[in-house]
Amino acid sequence: MKHYEKAQIILNEFSIDNFRSQLIDWFNKEQRSLPWRENQDPYRVWVSEIMLQQTRVDTVIPYFNHFMEQFPTPEALASADEQDILKAWEGLGYYSRARNLQNAVREVVEYYEGKVPDNKEQLGELKGVGPYTKGAILSIAYDQPEPAVDGNVMRVLSRILLVEEDIAKASTKSLFEALVHELISKEYPSAFNQGLMELGAIICTPKSPSCLLCPVRSECRAFHEGRELDLPVKTKKKKQKKQPFAALFIENDQGEVLIEQRPSKGLLASLWQYPMVPLAEIAESDIPSWFQLEFGITIQPEAAIDHVHHVFSHLIWDMKVIKAHTFDGKMDRANAIFVNKEQVKDYPFPVSHQKIHKHLN
Ligand code: ADE
Repeated sequence: MKHYEKAQIILNEFSIDNFRSQLIDWFNKEQRSLPWRENQDPYRVWVSEIMLQQTRVDTVIPYFNHFMEQFPTPEALASADEQDILKAWEGLGYYSRARNLQNAVREVVEYYEGKVPDNKEQLGELKGVGPYTKGAILSIAYDQPEPAVDGNVMRVLSRILLVEEDIAKASTKSLFEALVHELISKEYPSAFNQGLMELGAIICTPKSPSCLLCPVRSECRAFHEGRELDLPVKTKKKKQKKQPFAALFIENDQGEVLIEQRPSKGLLASLWQYPMVPLAEIAESDIPSWFQLEFGITIQPEAAIDHVHHVFSHLIWDMKVIKAHTFDGKMDRANAIFVNKEQVKDYPFPVSHQKIHKHLN
């Protein structure tokens, strides 16, 4: 059965009009004042939606404000140095979002005179702009009735409509997009989609939804059946794989420390870090000789000074931080440099390695 037909069946005997008006009235009254809601500038909406993917509103606010000061227009972002963008993104995680955003904004500047496209076809071709971001920009900035379905929206609607499909499956997302196509207000698409997001953020939360405060509870099938905590249905993802590393805090005679830049592709691309040794491949006792081969300098490990445990969505880094000294000044590796301690923080570091900065003092 096609999603559209399935959506029709799910919406049978559902009062779309009540739901819409309750949601929109509530959003207009109760919405939080957030910096990206100051106006409908599509560039601001775009940046905010990229930052808000996988990241909480409270975390995003200061990053968003700072980012908009530093890169106020598509032109400013298009011509920025990638390292400056990564520095502005430092700590937000999922750094490919920042790189893709700049690439896409460059296309907007080059092909569309800096004006964010207002149609699905052109928006969808931009780097990093998937169905969610496309729908969010079209509805929030341009008031077009397009779905913007993320995990929060699926949680809210799975409860309201009592949909028991597994939201970890791609086809379930398409089903919810078909549902929003039917549900969305053609008059106020922006308030409708933002209302769904807002409801998911402050009322219809994952673990303890505040159903008694919910503006649409009269229409909520899960609430009527007392089943809100059974939904959404979501299969568990695989457990993260644990990877052991040594992170080396290496000082030279000048009191400088050694940092290296990660490759330009893959996890945490182009960010900086303290040199890391994969302990699954190199025994700890072999670190000095391995280091000699890789970096061309002699190091003397002194002591383990810290332990850093960092959880990514798909893996865990278990890092033993080892302090070491080198008497060598020169190095034959293009991606590694000695920097004095005051300058280390000028470079963009992933959070896992920012946790090592405290040993600079
Ligand atoms: N989560 C995703 N998009 C959002 C938005 N525009 N406002 C609040 N929370 C969100």
